[in-house]
Amino acid sequence: MFPAPDSVKLNSPPAPVVILASMMGISAAAARPIEYARDVAPILDARCVTCHRPDGGGPFPLQTYAEARKHAKEITAVTARRYMPPWLPSPACTNFADARVLTTNEIAAFAGWEADGLIEGDPANRPNPPSWPGGWLLGTPDLVVTMTVPYELAPEGKDVYRNFVAPIPPHAKRFVRGIEFHPGNPRVVHHAFVNIDPTRGSRRRAEKESPPGFDGMQLPETAVMPGGQLLGWQPGKIPYLGSEDLGWELPADSDLVLQLHMHPSGRPETVQSAVGFYFTDRTPTNSPYRVELVRFDIDVPPGTDDYAVENSYVMPIDGTLLRISPHSHYVARRIQGFAEFPGGGRATLVDIPDWDFNWQGDYRFAEPVSLPKGTRLSMRFQFDNTTNNVRNPFNPPKRIVYGLQTTDEMAELWFQILPDHREDRAVLARDFLRYRREVLIESHRLRLKKNPGDGEAELMLGSALNALGRTNEGLPHLEAAARLRPNDDRVFYEIGFFHLGAGRYADAKPNFEKVVALNPKDSQAHGSLGIIAIVQGDYAGARRHLEEALRLNPEDTLAKTYLDKLAAAGK
Ligand code: HEC
Repeated sequence: MFPAPDSVKLNSPPAPVVILASMMGISAAAARPIEYARDVAPILDARCVTCHRPDGGGPFPLQTYAEARKHAKEITAVTARRYMPPWLPSPACTNFADARVLTTNEIAAFAGWEADGLIEGDPANRPNPPSWPGGWLLGTPDLVVTMTVPYELAPEGKDVYRNFVAPIPPHAKRFVRGIEFHPGNPRVVHHAFVNIDPTRGSRRRAEKESPPGFDGMQLPETAVMPGGQLLGWQPGKIPYLGSEDLGWELPADSDLVLQLHMHPSGRPETVQSAVGFYFTDRTPTNSPYRVELVRFDIDVPPGTDDYAVENSYVMPIDGTLLRISPHSHYVARRIQGFAEFPGGGRATLVDIPDWDFNWQGDYRFAEPVSLPKGTRLSMRFQFDNTTNNVRNPFNPPKRIVYGLQTTDEMAELWFQILPDHREDRAVLARDFLRYRREVLIESHRLRLKKNPGDGEAELMLGSALNALGRTNEGLPHLEAAARLRPNDDRVFYEIGFFHLGAGRYADAKPNFEKVVALNPKDSQAHGSLGIIAIVQGDYAGARRHLEEALRLNPEDTLAKTYLDKLAAAGK
């Protein structure tokens, strides 16, 4: 399905490109010499200036003859090594749109230009360079949402992960065809994830912590990439305008939540990123779904370079793969994704031989890949936790386990899949959520086997079993979690919820009481206590808890409904 690589290897020593060039007749002195205007500028314009321009992420512009000439030697060297343009997938992955892979002719042209004496040529021969009105590659957006206040990034210190919340002007529901992210300060913004929060969850978190943002890699559950989208950005990302019929819905009155990874530059910097939205009036005829293969039980011993984790999922419907996106941290080395087709045959969907966290992104298939029902999607992540891995955060290497900090590890491969029949999306969603819970259960069981007494794993395992309706199996794990983490309100919330679901109000009540004692700000626990009080005939107590739930979360429509009912009943 995917053609073999054109004999290109990553990390190979510089090829003798000058010889190659003359062999191919590109620089043959007998023909004509290579000139900037006619031969080199079009390659730079097509392959380099998305980053090497004032608003791009590159360290210097390559838009004029003088600029290209100044860096000519380096250009020859970095293109021959395939260090530039940066692109993680192996050149064997030929099915990606916007792949930043130079052809051998292009590499030879740079070398030939240098060998021929860096001639400018007649500027009239230069094809028009690309131009971006206002810097927007997709043209002027319908709506631009900018971070409300610029962020002051300290000159020194560690990389910063920070989430910024900006209100999207309230308007009727609109369908989004595409977005374009502007970093604001491309020197320091390394990558970004664009999320939408239809509630005030992220805003409240920012207000509580440090408005207008909050630190860390973990967002509230309500901040998501909607409609099966993959909305990541890294320097050089080419934004994409999808088909008019496949827009995604921007919920009215929602917040933009930008997760930025920033890298101090040695001097004070300000960052004020923006997102341009491009709308369509057409109601979507279908919408993609994200299948996320993950592994939670990563445990990489120090000094090994062959530790690997795998996982797979079988398609319950006919679908089409549009994009793929791997995510991992610093000790991951090789990342692969495959499809095994029900009729036989197997395709390599992505193969990244030398993963670099700083260049993570998603890849769009130029030719979407058909995934008939029964196709097995799989991933394999191999880790290098030795000193040979220059990105290893620890020297000497340390044991590295699953976690959200960058010095922990993760292994996720996301697939953006369009159901072939729109009504099958719900089938896929249901089946995938079941699968995901089973993965959670399996990995927490493994975690517990390794570390009996891991209260977090007991809690996760108990919650996942409950969510699958396997409550008899779940409760003992929640009880173990309660013994191990007597001050963790989440444990008592789960136990309370378990009893509430079974109608055992008297058993549920002390657990929710414990939750609000440990965390008085838990609006949902107050709501549950309100409902229990109604059932038990304690209307004054019910009003007190429901009012508190509504005060803590003004969008708690359930609390509001019950309060209205109490008022209507004169209680
Ligand atoms: C996706 C963005 C991107 C694209 C596309 C890109 N570059 Fe770069 N380039 C960078 C960044 C970021 C750096 C600085 C960090 C680094 O060296 O990795 C860089 C550094 C360089 C350097 C300095 C390397 C060094 O060793 O200091 C050269 C030369 C260069 N690029 C040439 C090119 C050429 C030629 C092209 C097109 C064929 C190109 N780049 C395409 C982002 C890009």
